[in-house]
Amino acid sequence: MGYNRVRFNNFRNIEPREIKWTPGLNLLTGPNGSGKTNLLEGINIVSGWGPLERGTRSSSIPSWNSGSSEVQLTGQLDDENGEIVKVKLSSRYTIRLDEKPITATDLRWKIPVLSFLPNDMSIIEGSASFRRRLMDMLLTLIIPVYATRLNDYRRGIKQKTVILRNHGKTDFIDRALLPLASWIWKMREEVLVMISESMDDIYDLLPYPTEISLVRGGAGSLPQPEEDFIYSLKINKNKEEVLNVPVVGPHRDDMLIRTNGTTAALSLSRGFRRRVAVALILAAADGVRRKLGKDPVLLLDEITAELDSDGRDLLFCALIERKTQVFASTAEPFAESFPGRIYRVDSGRVEIIDED
Ligand SMILES: Nc1ncnc2c1ncn2[C@@H]1O[C@H](COP(=O)(O)OP(=O)(O)OP(=O)(O)O)[C@@H](O)[C@H]1O
Ligand SMILES: [Mg+2]
Repeated sequence: MGYNRVRFNNFRNIEPREIKWTPGLNLLTGPNGSGKTNLLEGINIVSGWGPLERGTRSSSIPSWNSGSSEVQLTGQLDDENGEIVKVKLSSRYTIRLDEKPITATDLRWKIPVLSFLPNDMSIIEGSASFRRRLMDMLLTLIIPVYATRLNDYRRGIKQKTVILRNHGKTDFIDRALLPLASWIWKMREEVLVMISESMDDIYDLLPYPTEISLVRGGAGSLPQPEEDFIYSLKINKNKEEVLNVPVVGPHRDDMLIRTNGTTAALSLSRGFRRRVAVALILAAADGVRRKLGKDPVLLLDEITAELDSDGRDLLFCALIERKTQVFASTAEPFAESFPGRIYRVDSGRVEIIDED
């Protein structure tokens, strides 16, 4: 499952044209600022995930030099029907599949894509929000109602913040949040089990035995999520009233990544951190395949950064074994043999330089 071709129109610095992709590994090479991350972002958008958060709003996306304010991305799916996905970004965001409107949720389910752009190292080094994003991205793909319930929960947390700021009573909103919060905790715990089970197959990429677990936001004293939520709210009541922010619940969750018994972000070298980050994404992809029966497309930016030649070999082997479509980028000159197709990106122009 993946894309045969994608047409970029007016998208950032990418030359307007159609690019053909191979069903296996596609490696984008080129200097800094040439457009590699932009190409990956385009594929992310055509898969229903929207633009990357790079400090810009989606309205500022269209190309600077075209004079037009409409971006259009068109992808042809690599399945028996060769369906066409068309995404337009102007003042509105519209998606069509074979000319019929489709929601982003349905499109993500149709063509699951896993990405951690623009920097997968943020899974290890970044704030807890990046790790929550990984869990939420997976759950959105696997459980159709997850995104809606997460939104309901987030709305509830906003209301609770307003109530706390106005020194009101929170009992009512806490009761409404209870089933959502405990369900999200259960789902996140299950998805981490799913990733852990798949990590056994990626052990050669992992420098040390690696364990992942959920750290429930402001909670964790009791095993049952419902009881834990109620109990943690009780013991944090004063804190919430003093700080005027909700401190208990999934919006404060983190995912603990431990290698060899210590926190990965503190103990690992940069190369090993990258190996763990990539291994987590691959394990997540394996889990998605088991649950959905479809191989997710992988988008990996700056794939070879910080990896030594052993690390690269292990990574390429792991990617080939998965038989999934991969779009990866590297800014380093790439002279080694590569088991896929290599593209050269230069000032937004893309050329195939090596056939597999
Ligand atoms: N809306 C836009 N219109 C036109 N060009 C844009 C737009 N937004 C960003 N750019 C240009 O895109 C280029 C950045 O591309 P991108 O981040 O994809 O580079 P890259 O090849 O990934 O570089 P690196 O190796 O540094 O990661 C910059 O030159 C930037 O000026
Ligand atoms: Mg880049």
